[in-house]
Amino acid sequence: MKNKSICCIDNVFSIENLKNLITVIHGENTPLCYLHSFGCQQNATDGEKIKGMLAEIGYDFTDDTEKASLIIMNTCAVREHAEDRVFGNIGKFKKLKKEKPDTIICVCGCMAQQKHIAERIKNNYHQVDLVFGTFAYNKFYEMLYEVLKTKSRVFNISEQDDSINENLKQLRDSKIKASVPIMYGCNNFCTYCIVPYVRGRERSRPVEAVFDEVSDLVKAGYKEITLLGQNVNSYSYGFPQLLKRLNTIEGDFRIRFMSSHPKDATSELIDTILDCDKVCKHLHLPMQSGCNRVLKEMNRKYTVEEYAKIIDYAREINPDFSFTSDIIVGFPGETYEEFCETKKAINRFKFDNIYSFVYSKRSGTKAALMEDNISHKQKGLWLRELLLEHRENNVSWMSRFVGKTLKVLAEKEGRTSEHHLNGRSDENIIVEFIGDKALIGSFVNVKITKAMNWALLGEIV
Ligand code: SAH
Ligand code: SF4
Ligand code: F3S
Repeated sequence: MKNKSICCIDNVFSIENLKNLITVIHGENTPLCYLHSFGCQQNATDGEKIKGMLAEIGYDFTDDTEKASLIIMNTCAVREHAEDRVFGNIGKFKKLKKEKPDTIICVCGCMAQQKHIAERIKNNYHQVDLVFGTFAYNKFYEMLYEVLKTKSRVFNISEQDDSINENLKQLRDSKIKASVPIMYGCNNFCTYCIVPYVRGRERSRPVEAVFDEVSDLVKAGYKEITLLGQNVNSYSYGFPQLLKRLNTIEGDFRIRFMSSHPKDATSELIDTILDCDKVCKHLHLPMQSGCNRVLKEMNRKYTVEEYAKIIDYAREINPDFSFTSDIIVGFPGETYEEFCETKKAINRFKFDNIYSFVYSKRSGTKAALMEDNISHKQKGLWLRELLLEHRENNVSWMSRFVGKTLKVLAEKEGRTSEHHLNGRSDENIIVEFIGDKALIGSFVNVKITKAMNWALLGEIV
């Protein structure tokens, strides 16, 4: 295929023409798409929107890349490991493309939004036909039309477009749980993080649009709604107000949200969580580090003491209140002693779960220019130390639920045995219990009998 940029989209494009073109190519056969979303729930939502657009023009979906005529990698750029996995995948498609040259291979999402990545794909991965960034979803039909019609390679990593398209219908993977973005982008520029560069500035969706979407999902039978934003606390129309408004929707469902930046988490937020019966009594509050010097270098804009105030406030009212956290190990310049402060902090704050990562250098960020003398291998050992510490203390902390009854949304078959079901409590803790498969998709009350390091065990009451 020859190189060509998107700047001059064929002016005969229309959805009708696109559909006709697909019929010409596939005849009576339904075209199949393989789509894989990497990274966070926000990205998964984008993937579901692309699926929705494809379904509208007659595509169906497959888990088998060999059967697909369109392969889409919806990528994540947050850590190097995520990017390596994508390049590994695209590498493998070289053979597939040779055997089936008509297969269209597309790379989109956060990784594709970075110029150096788009260049690398353009120059070294000729099997890829279409590359587009996080601001180009609205142009997906036009780009697909151009690729199919002209057989040229299309690259679109245009800069931010402030509009939010409310008309893209999502084809959701789950019938039980749904994510609803309330805002896009991030203004915080934590020094290690690529997200503000690939997702642009904050844009909030209007309250009415969010309210209507959640109402429709509840009517359609969804049991768990997760509100998404890189920092939901800076939702323009007031986040506690939004929670209160959504809490008035009638039906058997619960509300979660993520993420909540500690610098903007207020006592009003905690009060609202505690007051609203539909909102889960759980807060994912990424701490990143337990050392004030490192937090300052990360540009997180809070101290460990300020962070502690939020936790103490919530637990004073509800001692069982659940917190989970993200931790970065081995930020540039971090010493072992500073890392030990993080270890101390996780014991103090008794998180129900931590998502911990070795620092990954992201080019274009401030931290990428900072001196970093600790090897990746050493940082990996620190990470293991942190996880062991968490595991050792976590079981006794999770034991606070033994003897209590938790409301669990049954989601799938369990790991413990074939008779067990697996679900999550309001606190977002995995709970396994013996139950009939017919219960999947409904709430059950489970009396907790045992705490393990990965889940709670219980019995239906
Ligand atoms: N907006 C969310 C985080 C989104 S990224 C928030 O602020 O909470 C999810 C997590 O990835 C972050 O919380 C952080 O712990 C981790 N992360 C981000 N950039 C990273 C990097 N360069 N290296 C390692 N982990 C990183
Ligand atoms: Fe990244 Fe910080 Fe924004 Fe979260 S708040 S997405 S960690 S810059
Ligand atoms: Fe999400 Fe990864 Fe992009 S975490 S916002 S998919 S960089």
